[in-house]
Amino acid sequence: MKILITGGAGFIGSHVVRLFVNKYPNYTIHNLDALTYAGNLANLSDIEAKPNYKFVKGNIVDNDFISNLFETEKYNAVIHLAAESHVDRSITNPIEFVMTNVIGTVNLLNAAKSLYKKDNTDFQKFYHVSTDEVYGALGDEGMFTETTSYDPHSPYSASKASSDHFVRAYHDTYGLPTLISNCSNNYGPNHFPEKLIPLCINNIKHNRPLPIYGKGENVRDWLYVVDHARAIDVIFHTAKYGSTYNIGGHNEWKNIDVIRLLCKIMDEKLNRPAGTNEKLITFVTDRAGHDMRYAIDAAKLQNDLGWVPSVTFEEGLASTLDWYLQNDEWLTNVTSGNYTKYYDGQYASR
Ligand code: NAD
Ligand code: DAU
Repeated sequence: MKILITGGAGFIGSHVVRLFVNKYPNYTIHNLDALTYAGNLANLSDIEAKPNYKFVKGNIVDNDFISNLFETEKYNAVIHLAAESHVDRSITNPIEFVMTNVIGTVNLLNAAKSLYKKDNTDFQKFYHVSTDEVYGALGDEGMFTETTSYDPHSPYSASKASSDHFVRAYHDTYGLPTLISNCSNNYGPNHFPEKLIPLCINNIKHNRPLPIYGKGENVRDWLYVVDHARAIDVIFHTAKYGSTYNIGGHNEWKNIDVIRLLCKIMDEKLNRPAGTNEKLITFVTDRAGHDMRYAIDAAKLQNDLGWVPSVTFEEGLASTLDWYLQNDEWLTNVTSGNYTKYYDGQYASR
């Protein structure tokens, strides 16, 4: 099988590429990525020389490029992760999210459709990786299931919801064999330090303020990125075409509690007196339209396909912190580009 993985140089994509390249030596894996600020080939240095792996630089918004690529390579499957992924950036610049997340996805769907059922091709599946944010926000009770109505609030989640609708439309209208998964918040190695957990790890290292939006009461359901990649593997290989699966860790935390835990573990790891890092916590202006709570019911994935997370939050967080402490060069490189984050909660390019 020749598989195109999009966004493979990003956080989750790099873990998916690694898993597929190592676990399936008989597959050929092409990693298509535009290398935006979030894409980093250093994430894949351990597998870049493998004979079943190839990097393709390109932008999914460029329709001519995408259709030529599919015509030439005649892929058997797509796993689509390329996206603009940061909610705060979507509030500042929504159109980039429309271009990549909506137009880019439709370009890929068209290219896949043109291979599907052609005489000399064998296109088998289009797997779209999406987010739980399409379902909107929860109050104190309940969890998102696969039948929860879509109710996106940010430009990011609106663009992801739109792309999910297009994927379903291509299944229902053209019979394209599609799969969708909607996952909760990931954490782990290679996470770009604009997102809450890696941002705070980096700021703790440098004794900088830890910006907590509002009162820090918002709840997220955290999943270790390697477990997300494992779920994608299972769904890709065994789910029924046209189906949707929620992926989550049953691991809800208030933001403030996650950051307090991080501060405590990092006091120990950095040999700082207990309580030192907590003093860096700084409450800042809330995110506009900030969703209060996400929680995923992953029972369908567990019951149908047997997937459960392989690590606890404590284990995953400990390996994540160790990775960041041991990969100072990675962190320095990605924070010395056209990105900076100020403690007042605003981000700015420079
Ligand atoms: P990321 O921002 O770390 O990586 C995105 C990758 O896509 C980067 O390598 C970037 O260079 C590439 N890319 C961006 N625009 C592109 C374009 N126009 N053409 C080609 N490549 C482009 O994102 P992530 O956190 O790894 O998320 C990956 C996918 O998973 C996204 O679709 C996201 O919506 C989804 N998701 C993320 C999370 C999470 O917690 N991070 C949770 C659920 C779902
Ligand atoms: O739920 C899945 C989604 O999780 C993915 O689809 C997105 O791509 C991913 O970025 C993530 O979105 P969030 O907005 O939940 O993640 P983020 O790390 O930006 O924020 C997590 C929580 O922490 C959220 O409630 C906002 C808050 N926060 C975030 C930042 C960056 C802060 O309090 N301070 C911060 O500086």
